[in-house]
Amino acid sequence: MLTKPKGTYDILPGESQKWAKLEQVFRRVCEIANYEEIRTPIFEQYETFHRDQTDSSDMVNKETYDFIDRGERKMTLRPEGTAGCVRAYVENKLYASNKISKLFYFGPMFRYERPQKGRYRQFYQFGLEAYGPKSALLDVDIISTAILLFKAIGLNKLRVRINTLGDKESRDKYREVLVNYFTKNIDYLCADCKDRLNKNPLRILDCKVDKDSEVLKKAPCISDYLNEESKAHFKEVIDSLDRLGISYVLDPHLVRGLDYYSDTVFEIEYLSDVLGNQNVICAGGRYNNLVKELGGPDIPGVGLAFGMDRILLALENENIKIVKDKELHFFLITLGNLAKEEGQKLIYDARLRGFKCDMSYQGQSLKAQFKEADYNNSLFTLILGDDEIANNNINVKNNQTKTQETVKLNELFDYLLSKINNCANCGGKCHEKSTN
Ligand code: HAM
Repeated sequence: MLTKPKGTYDILPGESQKWAKLEQVFRRVCEIANYEEIRTPIFEQYETFHRDQTDSSDMVNKETYDFIDRGERKMTLRPEGTAGCVRAYVENKLYASNKISKLFYFGPMFRYERPQKGRYRQFYQFGLEAYGPKSALLDVDIISTAILLFKAIGLNKLRVRINTLGDKESRDKYREVLVNYFTKNIDYLCADCKDRLNKNPLRILDCKVDKDSEVLKKAPCISDYLNEESKAHFKEVIDSLDRLGISYVLDPHLVRGLDYYSDTVFEIEYLSDVLGNQNVICAGGRYNNLVKELGGPDIPGVGLAFGMDRILLALENENIKIVKDKELHFFLITLGNLAKEEGQKLIYDARLRGFKCDMSYQGQSLKAQFKEADYNNSLFTLILGDDEIANNNINVKNNQTKTQETVKLNELFDYLLSKINNCANCGGKCHEKSTN
């Protein structure tokens, strides 16, 4: 039997509705906050993601799915959305309009990681990216839009952790101090961190293995090495978050795994043990040099990405339902061949009028058809036999009141509409009304 690749999963009916709903809410929030959709390829030239071979970011080292295509070109399945988005921004000269570009995207990303709950090899992100002036208010526009999404889906056990990596000058100074500090304490570092020491010492602060060690806890903080400009930018971010009433925790050791960040970085954690180490459900930050690095003008960017898979796990854990149970307006059961043929016409006609409906395609067994009707959870079950057709009638069972009536076939749709719009349980609110 063929099976799915390790670290991937199928999104089956029942689950897929939740994904669609989450996408719908995300789109709505983006519309409200004035972000426009961009769709980029799921594979890009290798160099889009592997810019600096000396860097020790995980993305460069080990995590990407790289392949040579039939034209001998080296390609990479996108491990994240930012670099492809920047590539598209530059290639299509979106900067030419001189306005701030506020973009959103979603789709699958691919990373060759050790799979566990909340960590997959194919996973799904929503992302936001904004290109324009280096404005602290734009950083907060991004963060506050994330909060809008979480409010819209009702997820609130969250913590925003935030830090600044400063600009290049501040970071270079800090890097030097860190290298000195960790060199003195090298014996206390794990093997990966020893390797990071010369390539990307900031990443040591982020190490999951050493995270509780005294050496890490006592490591110097970037805040002591920021120049005035970096300090001012971060202060404005924090002041603006305060003004909006968005709570956060300052985390001086937050550095993030990707290599392109400068100034503001943040992560939003879901506060529960259910996702273990994978409880960061949204993360991002400012990247002032990536547009230039990918061949564009000197325009800074800032953005974030949500892990959709993790958001859905969190919603499930909180018992938050974002979709209603599947429900049809009616399900049709037929008795006899003529009824089946006429029934199909009736279904098509009803669908043209916007009724959500279906019929049984089982054989003649009434029992099997009723079972199928049950499975399809409908407000009404319609029963049509050859006799009813002869009399221009149809039997309509109301599954909420458990009563049955015989209705004239040519009055059926009006009858159903009046019942649906005056539903005894909900007055028409608990299910979508017919569009007609
Ligand atoms: P990231 O932190 O690598 O950042 O990923 C963002 C989010 O994607 C994570 O917080 C997590 O929720 C989810 N995620 C990452 N890897 C996996 C995985 N293997 N399985 C399931 N979920 C995962 C970025 O990707 C940046 N591009 C964010 C950004 C946009 N920064 C600026 N603009």
